[in-house]
Amino acid sequence: MKYKVPRGTRDILGSDMLVWNRVNDAIAKITALNNYQKIETPIFEQTDLFKRGVGENTDIVEKEMYTFEDKSQRSLTLRPEGTASVVRAFVENKLYGGRLPIKLFYNGPMFRYEKAQKGRYRQFYQFGIEALGSGDPGLDAEVISVGWQLLMDVGIDSEEVKVHINSVGCKECREKYKEKLIEYYQDKTESLCSNCKTRLDKNPLRLLDCKNESCGAMANKAPSIFDVICTSCDEHFSSVKRYLEVFNVPYVLDKRLVRGLDYYTHTAFEYRNQKATSTQDAFGGGGRYNGLVEELGGPQTPAIGLAMGVDRIVLALLEKQLPQEHLNFFVVSMGEEEVQRYATEVMQMIRQHGYSCDKDYGGRSFKAQMRLADKCNAEKAVIIGDEEMKNKTLTLKNLKEGKQEILLEKQLKQQLERGSLSV
Ligand code: HAM
Repeated sequence: MKYKVPRGTRDILGSDMLVWNRVNDAIAKITALNNYQKIETPIFEQTDLFKRGVGENTDIVEKEMYTFEDKSQRSLTLRPEGTASVVRAFVENKLYGGRLPIKLFYNGPMFRYEKAQKGRYRQFYQFGIEALGSGDPGLDAEVISVGWQLLMDVGIDSEEVKVHINSVGCKECREKYKEKLIEYYQDKTESLCSNCKTRLDKNPLRLLDCKNESCGAMANKAPSIFDVICTSCDEHFSSVKRYLEVFNVPYVLDKRLVRGLDYYTHTAFEYRNQKATSTQDAFGGGGRYNGLVEELGGPQTPAIGLAMGVDRIVLALLEKQLPQEHLNFFVVSMGEEEVQRYATEVMQMIRQHGYSCDKDYGGRSFKAQMRLADKCNAEKAVIIGDEEMKNKTLTLKNLKEGKQEILLEKQLKQQLERGSLSV
């Protein structure tokens, strides 16, 4: 019997994990700099939360949820995204009664039953931020800047990404816009793809981001929301753009940008990977959702957030350059248990000074241990044999430059304490 990972899932290890760690470090840094606090919510929630929160007519709810009954016949769903859960937590824990806006972030697995392919998985990872309790357009720009900054910090080039922004208006202007779109498409239904045909009544905005070529051509000529947008939404959007200049985030206006989730109002945005083909080109996206807190049982609360696809960021980085393992020291030790115990003592002493260090546990020959040190990309080798053990000495070798020196163990300790090594 051979076991395999389920379709659309994968093990993350080796160089993937090294890049993953780099992204997670950048996430920790950027959330601290911008004052976002971490929140953990359950991996599964009541199914109704997502139906209500994400929207009954979305692809996610219609086709992609991992829904199951537990042993007490409760319908539960593995979270397909993080926003609905954060809003549920905001309402349930009455966070609206505290200092606002509250700025939260999460970083973890999400689940969607999608057609699995490169960059699209059934278990994937999102880093997301949600800022609840402020309608300030400066906050929209801050949120957009966090996603941009993350991409820049991890090493994506600025030419590789385009930040698309749009406004989807408030409830009122969106209703007017939907009518306009239905009117525009009325005599064109014959030429629409089957997906768009069914969407026209339920969710006409989604026709704008159809990837089908002829639907795309029609969408390009479709009326824009800016034909019907109300003054307050228009002013909000103009202000967001001015703040984006302050945050130094380059952007393109994209009147065809509508997002696949139903809760959005006002600002919508996506970070598109210029090198990616097809539909897996979004590094991330988000927008305002000023009606969602109320929809899920809380008081009227403006809010905005984003989610970045960590898998896609890692993929783009892996295509650039494979990262290398790295160790400060490798202890090469030849001899019986007594020698190994001395080698272990030296290794622990090195680690206690804050340097990474490892040794051989496989009974390898001297040569094989040196090769292993090289494979681990160790900077320095500490060589220990019977003689060294007896005299409490060691040979310190700089593996990059080839220089070496015999030291007393306590001399190495002093050098580590000073933070400067003789070779
Ligand atoms: P979303 O656009 O559905 O938004 O997902 C955000 C990002 O997650 C995508 O741009 C993509 O990078 C990644 N992603 C989505 N599905 C997959 C998949 N199957 N495989 C790999 N990566 C994927 C949201 O989820 C919203 N909750 C964002 C948000 C937060 N809006 C407001 N606050």
